[in-house]
Amino acid sequence: MRQSRAPSSSVDIFAGRGFRRSTSAARLTRRSLLGGAAALAAGLGGTRPTSAAGDAVPFGAAVAYGNFRDDADYRNALLEHCDLIMPMNELKFAQVHPEPGRWNFEPADAIVDFALRNGRTSRGHAHVWWGATPDWVEAIGSEKEAEAALVEHIETVQDRYRGRLLGWDVVNEVIANDPETEGALRDTVWLDRLGPRHIPLAFQAASQADPDARLVLNDYDLEFAGRRYDLRREIALGIVRQLLDANIPVHGVGIQAHLYVGRTIDRDALLAFHKALDEMGVSLLVTELDVINWESAPDAQSQDRAAGALVSDLLEGVFAWKAPELVVAWGLTDRYSWIEDVQPRPDGAPGRPLPLDRDMKPKPWLRTLKHRLSAG
Ligand code: XIL
Repeated sequence: MRQSRAPSSSVDIFAGRGFRRSTSAARLTRRSLLGGAAALAAGLGGTRPTSAAGDAVPFGAAVAYGNFRDDADYRNALLEHCDLIMPMNELKFAQVHPEPGRWNFEPADAIVDFALRNGRTSRGHAHVWWGATPDWVEAIGSEKEAEAALVEHIETVQDRYRGRLLGWDVVNEVIANDPETEGALRDTVWLDRLGPRHIPLAFQAASQADPDARLVLNDYDLEFAGRRYDLRREIALGIVRQLLDANIPVHGVGIQAHLYVGRTIDRDALLAFHKALDEMGVSLLVTELDVINWESAPDAQSQDRAAGALVSDLLEGVFAWKAPELVVAWGLTDRYSWIEDVQPRPDGAPGRPLPLDRDMKPKPWLRTLKHRLSAG
C-alpha cells in the first residue's frame, strides 16, 4: 500500500530552516527613487492606475508579446473589450531574467505602456512559477544562493514596475497538483533549495519593493467539485493564514479558472472559499479564465453553450459572497490560445476557449460575463 508523504492539506510554510528577513531594504530605496523618476520621465506618472469603471469589476486579458506586436486587430480588440491588459509570459522569471545580470524588459514594457497610455491598467505575472525557471536558477546548488537570487529577482522586477502595475502574482502554482499523493506543495527548485519558506520570502521581497502593489497567490483547480479541489482550496487558505499571522502582506488569491467542460464548478465551495478569504481581509481574483473543451460536440454553438454554462456557474459561485477584485481572461481571441497548443480537442476540431472567436466576434458568454461584472 502506498503511504502518503505528509498530512496533505496542511503545510507549515515557515518549516525547517529559520525564516530570515531580507536585509536589502536600504539598497532598494535608492533604486526605487530612480525607478519612480524613470516612470515620470516616460510620462507614465508615478501613481498607481485605477479602474475607470466605477463600481464595475474590471475585465481584462493577458496577451503574448508577438501576437500583440504583429496583429493590429488584436490590439484594437483589446482596447475595445478590456479595462486591463497584461503581459502573459513576458514577466515570468525565465523571460525577464534569462541569465544572471541580464534583464529583458522590452516586451513587457511594450504591453504595459500600451495599457497605461490608453488608460487601461495592468498586472504582473509571475515571480515564482515552476514553468518558467531559467537554467541558471535550476543550477543553483546552495540555499544561500537561491535565496539571494529569488530576492534580487523579485526586488528588481517589482521595483522597476512600481506604480505601473496594480499588483503581482507573487507565487504561481505552488500547490501540489494532487496534494493527496504529493504533499501540500509542488516539488520545484525553490522548494528543494529553500523549503516552504520560499513563499513568505517571495511575498516579503515583493512587499518591500512595492508596498502598494496587490500581492497575490495564484493557482489552478480551485473551482471544481471533488476531494482534490477541496484539498487545494484548504492549502491555499492555510498559506494565506500563515502569511498574515507572520505579518507578511498577501492581498489576494487568484483562481486561474481554466475551466474544463465535464467538470463541475463547486459553487458552494467557492462561496465558502471567498468568504474565508474575505474574513481574512483578502480578495479573490479570477486571473486566467478560459475554457478547455474535449467533450461537447465540435460545432461552434455546442462549444459556446458548454463554455457559457461553466462561466455562469463560476460567476455564480464567485459572486455568491461578493464581487471579485477583477476578472482576467488568458488571451482574448481564439486566434491565439495556449489551449490549442497544450490541450487541443482530441477530435482535432478547432477549440473555442476564449471570449472572442477567431474573427474577433464576441461569444454570447462574453455578454453574460460583462453584464455580471458591470453590476459589480
Ligand atoms: C502559458 C502561456 O499561455 C503560454 O503562452 C506559455 O507558452 C506557457 O504558459 N498557468 C499559468 C500561465 O499560470 O502562466 C500559463 O501560461 C498557463 C497555465
